Amino acid sequence: MESSPSWDHEAVAAIVESLRRTPGALMRILRRVQDQLGWVPPPALPEIAHALNLSRAEVHGVASFYHDFRPTPPGRNVIRLCRAEACQALGAEALADHVRARLGLAFGATSSDRAFTLEPVYCLGNCACSPAGVINGQLLGRLTPASFDDALARLVRR
Ligand code: FES
Repeated sequence: MESSPSWDHEAVAAIVESLRRTPGALMRILRRVQDQLGWVPPPALPEIAHALNLSRAEVHGVASFYHDFRPTPPGRNVIRLCRAEACQALGAEALADHVRARLGLAFGATSSDRAFTLEPVYCLGNCACSPAGVINGQLLGRLTPASFDDALARLVRR
């Protein structure tokens, strides 16, 4: 059996402690853990549940419902492509074919050298500039295969 990647217990504990008494604590904690660690380690969920007096199933249900919460650590470069309707209407599928081939990755996958993670996203609020995507947090619009390659060359972390 593959062991779970290591994660920063102290960071999670500090986040839980700082937010556990705030309204909507569970979502805030999950969001902060994701922002800080880049993922939400599944072994952290029972600790979060315990701190909030929730069942493990409740916390697991929320963490797994929202695709934004990654259960595994991402690669150094995270590429997200919009797969929703407005982008689909303006060439997102052809763009996705290009990006998958360029990175050699399926959606939801991370390269074995951990250089890239490719994620689907369902509307980035950038529909007027479809098709849209994000490379390492940088929102991009009117993407074509060529402009994607240009942006990748500019924004990639080595
Ligand atoms: S549908 Fe792609 S940004 Fe809204």
